[in-house]
Amino acid sequence: MIQAPKGTYDVLPPDAARRELLLGHAARILGAAGYERIETPAFEATELFARGVGEATDIVQKEMYSFDDGGGRSLTLRPEGTAPVCRAYIEHGMHKLPPPVKLWYLSSFFRAENPQKGRYRQFWQVGAEVIGADGPETDAELIVLLAELLEAMGVKGTRLRLASLGTPETRVEYRQELTAYLRAHESELSEEVRARIDLNPMRAFDASDAGTRRVMEAAPKLLERLAPDDAEHFATVRALLDAAGVAYELDPTLVRGLDYYTRTLFEFTSDALGAQSGVGGGGRYDRLIEQLGGQRTAGIGWAAGLERILLAAPEQPVMSRVVDLLVVGGDRDSRPVALAAFEVAREARRAGLAAQLELTGRSLKSALKHADRLGARYVAIVHDGEHASLKDMESGEQKELTTAAVIPEVLRGSRLT
Ligand code: HAM
Repeated sequence: MIQAPKGTYDVLPPDAARRELLLGHAARILGAAGYERIETPAFEATELFARGVGEATDIVQKEMYSFDDGGGRSLTLRPEGTAPVCRAYIEHGMHKLPPPVKLWYLSSFFRAENPQKGRYRQFWQVGAEVIGADGPETDAELIVLLAELLEAMGVKGTRLRLASLGTPETRVEYRQELTAYLRAHESELSEEVRARIDLNPMRAFDASDAGTRRVMEAAPKLLERLAPDDAEHFATVRALLDAAGVAYELDPTLVRGLDYYTRTLFEFTSDALGAQSGVGGGGRYDRLIEQLGGQRTAGIGWAAGLERILLAAPEQPVMSRVVDLLVVGGDRDSRPVALAAFEVAREARRAGLAAQLELTGRSLKSALKHADRLGARYVAIVHDGEHASLKDMESGEQKELTTAAVIPEVLRGSRLT
């Protein structure tokens, strides 16, 4: 038996209904705020992610599905959506549109990660990006919209972590300061942290040993080192969130695995998830468009994992499917009967009914049983081009009528949806 590759899964019809629910909420919430849908290709030039996401990130170093296109060009299955959206923005000259350009997507992404609950190699994200607006209201609006989407889906136990990264220049200076601080306290740090001081000093904030934790409590924080305009921007984002009643925790150690972020950074987690607790997150990327060859343009956005939203949300009742009519050919060896039945089903659908044609050649008895299973309200048994019987499955009544009368009769008795 050939199975789906490790880390991938099939979306079977019962799951599809919940995914459609999410799609509907996203379209409604983001649509009302003026965001328009965008879809980019499933693969892109590898260079886009190397330059956009960052050569040194885990995503680019270890998690990309890259391949040769047969002509010597390296392509990569998209691991995320922000760099592709910015590529499309530049490629289609969207800077000529009245700013800001507000876009959203629901697409599949690919990362060669170790699969576990909530972590897959092909997964889906709903994402939103605003390009061409640098004010703090944009940051707050995006965060509020994600909070609304998670709430609409009934995601339980959410927490919002918030930070600001300032500019890359501030970060370089801060990194030097932190490295020097760690060196000065080297003897109190765990061996693991000590070995990584130069490679990634920020990791020291995540250490769990008592010695390192004590040192890190007094360590300089990036949030305290922001340049005045970055600090002002962040203070306004916080004031807007406070006014909107959105609770958050300041987390000066928040790190996300993408290099393009500047200023505001945020992440929603859910206690309802296990180790993979990140439901969705994002931030500002005011330098990314320029890095990809466009003019310097501000950008900010988020993405939330569809699977994680569904894992953290209770099952919601989904509308059951309505079947108004099942059309059965009374004599399956007769071509005129087949043609007439086919026509009745087609016309019924054109008239707005949910109508199915019996396709397997079942006996009349088992076709009626099947109609019961489907929950069909009527069954039409077509005898020839002219005559049919119509059975009301609820009352059990059966009527003889012309084939032309079937649809008007069903429409009369139909509780049309
Ligand atoms: P990210 O944090 O890498 O951000 O991914 C966003 C969300 O996608 C995560 O919070 C998680 O729910 C989901 N996710 C990530 N990897 C997996 C996986 N292997 N399996 C299942 N779900 C996963 C980004 O991708 C940025 N592009 C977000 C952004 C948009 N920043 C600015 N604009």
